[in-house]
Order: sequence, then C-alpha cells, then structure tokens
Amino acid sequence: MPHYGDYQNQIYGAGLQGVQPRLPVDFATLVERATAAMPPQVLTYVQGGCGDEWTQDENARAFRHWGMIPRMMVDTRARDLSIELFGLTLPSPVFMAPIGVTGLCTQDGHGDLAAARASAMTGVPLTASTLSNDPLEDVKAQCGDTPAFFQLYTPRDGALAESLIGRAEAAGYKALVVTLDTWVTGWRPRDLNVANFPQLRGAVLQNYFTDPVFRKLLGKPVAENLREAIGLWGANFARPITWDDIAWFRSATKLPIALKGICHPDDARRAADLGADAIYCSNHGGRQANGGIAAIDLLPGVVAAAGSTPVLFDSGVRSGSDVVKALALGARAVGVGRPYAYGLALDGDAGCAHVLKCILAEADLLMAVNGWPTVAAVREAGAQRV
Ligand code: FNR
Repeated sequence: MPHYGDYQNQIYGAGLQGVQPRLPVDFATLVERATAAMPPQVLTYVQGGCGDEWTQDENARAFRHWGMIPRMMVDTRARDLSIELFGLTLPSPVFMAPIGVTGLCTQDGHGDLAAARASAMTGVPLTASTLSNDPLEDVKAQCGDTPAFFQLYTPRDGALAESLIGRAEAAGYKALVVTLDTWVTGWRPRDLNVANFPQLRGAVLQNYFTDPVFRKLLGKPVAENLREAIGLWGANFARPITWDDIAWFRSATKLPIALKGICHPDDARRAADLGADAIYCSNHGGRQANGGIAAIDLLPGVVAAAGSTPVLFDSGVRSGSDVVKALALGARAVGVGRPYAYGLALDGDAGCAHVLKCILAEADLLMAVNGWPTVAAVREAGAQRV
C-alpha cells in the first residue's frame, strides 16, 4: 500500500538521476522563494496580518511549545491516515483552508482552478472561498474525485446568500463553512501602507459577478458597470452572524455546516448544542484581530467543549509535524493556509500539490517513526506543553 511518506523516495530517487526538487520541502525556504517571486501587492496581502502581527507570528511559534513522546515496539509499516468527516471518508486529515486571493496567486489569475487541480492530484480537499477569480462551479469541476467544501462570507442580502449556498450545493460541494470573524476587515497595516485591497479593484469577485441574484440587484451588465458592481459587492459583502442565525442556515441548506472562527470553549459548547456539524477553531491566521492567543493553544479547550462534534483547525500550520500536533490535541482535520498559496505562486498546481505532499509525507513519516499507525493512535498519545 503506498504511503504519503513515499514522496521522499521519489525525491531521493530523482536525485540519483541528477534531478533536484523544483521547490523546497521546508516552509522557511518556501517563504524565502515566494517572497522573492510574488508581485509585491499580492505578497503583501497573503503574507500580512493584523496590527503588528503578534497573533499571526504567535500562531506558528506556539507549535514549538507543544511536544510529543514517541512509542517504540509498534509495527507501523502499514499506516492509515484516513478520517471520517461530514459523512465522508477522507484519505488524510489535511484540507486546504479557504484563501480569498488564491486566484491572484498564479500569474494567469486562475489560481483557484490550480488549487482545485492540486486537490484532485493529492486527495486533499479544497475549501473554496467565496472570494474567487473563477466561479465556484468551475472551481469544483477541477477538483476531480476529491470532495470540496464551500466557504461562505454571508452577504447582507438574504436572497444573494441563498443563491450562493444553492449554487454551492448544486455544484456538489460537500459542506458549508460559514466564516464568523469577517463581517468587517481587520486592521492590516501592510495593505493599508500601500492602499491596496484587491476586491476594491474588482479582483476575486467572480462568484458575485456570475450570480443571478447579484446581477438582478445590479440591474445592468457587470462588465460595463464595474465600479457600480464593486460598490454593490462592498455594500453586501458580509453581515455579522449571531446565534439566532443558525436556524436560518439550517433552513437554507442540507449541507453539513462548519462554523469557522471559534476559539472560546463557551462558543464551542454553544455551537455544539445548536447542532453545528463541525466547529472550526481558527483565528483567521491572525489577519482579522491582533492580540489573540495562538490558535493551537486554544484548540484543547475548544475540543473539550465540543464534545462529540468534530473540530477542524487552522492557523499557523507550516509542516507535517504541526499537523500531527494539532491531531494530538484533538483536531479531527487540519487546514493548511499560507503554505499552499506560496506553492501556487511558485509553480501553480504542481507547486501547490508539492507543498501538500511534503506536509503529508512529514506527518506520515513522523507517525511511522513514533509508533502511531492511525490518527486515533496520535490522538490517544496526545501532546504536552513544554
Ligand atoms: C485567508 N483566510 C480566509 N478565510 C476565510 O474564511 N475566507 C477567506 O476568503 C479567507 N481568505 C484568506 C486570504 C489569505 C491571503 C489568507 C492568508 C487567509 C484565512 C484562512 O482560511 C486560514 O484561517 C488562515 O490562512 C490560517 O492561517 P495560516 O496558517 O495561513 O497562517
């Protein structure tokens, strides 16, 4: 049975033929390469965070104060990284977090399609953002047999929200990820210093511009009335979600619902009580609010409060060992964010797939060495604060 860790054999094998990997396998070198290669304003948007970026930095740094203890005398030649989520069996616990400028990360402006192809190549589900350079139907069509999730920024106009949800359902997305922390954009100095916000320039708005309800609201062709279309988007982008809205979401879709942005145990408990299908512990990679505690440090409290409701996690995941730590702390599935955006920027679908394969390979080999043949074994082993 092939294992994710076999990717290292491919790399070493290619080396014997004189072929070096096109992209680095570690995050630090990947960032260095991407920083040199990406257009400055895309880089700023992807790399930047809120305030002085303390939370953003802490998200990644905090993984360093969690550690695990290996177990020996276990035969881990056969490993199974599969998980159950939203009624699906997924081959690994890794997914792609929604990134709203994925479209801009490739030079051709079709990074969303490239990410979808990388998902098809790796079996790692894509969470497609509402903010996309290609319509959600086209993105889904490139995902192949790999299931995909749709992330919703809930428009103020109810009919528009219903339309986006209905389209996601019709296109075959398998879950709706409702983002709770972004009805307004956080204070992002790197973008403010260059006065650049891609959406206000008409980028990544194709889900709106192709939407029948949005077009009706606009009442005139988008192409000839771009300024007005962008203005309509701005006026409608998102509304604050409160607990009372859960019933509305339930009535609007049959898809499983994940609530993204939950960090407090009380919120996790309430979401579970109200029947959320998944709780998504994330602080948006420190892009929305500065000063928050690193998400990985909040994960154990969220998991304990969530009870039997699965917990998804992202924010600060940079490697396979980060994935395993998050699983050990109780995450059902772990989202990769910025690293895959850098992979896209450097080598399109192949670059994105490479980044995901490296993360999976490291996680798989770590489990092999440490005596954990399954995700359940990782969770049982746990992680400790060091
Ligand atoms: C995001 N994130 C995000 N989240 C979301 O729900 N919808 C979105 O459209 C976006 N867009 C977006 C753009 C960019 C450039 C980034 C970096 C992030 C947040 C994302 O889903 C995830 O929570 C973070 O990326 C996790 O942080 P790290 O691990 O990438 O630092």
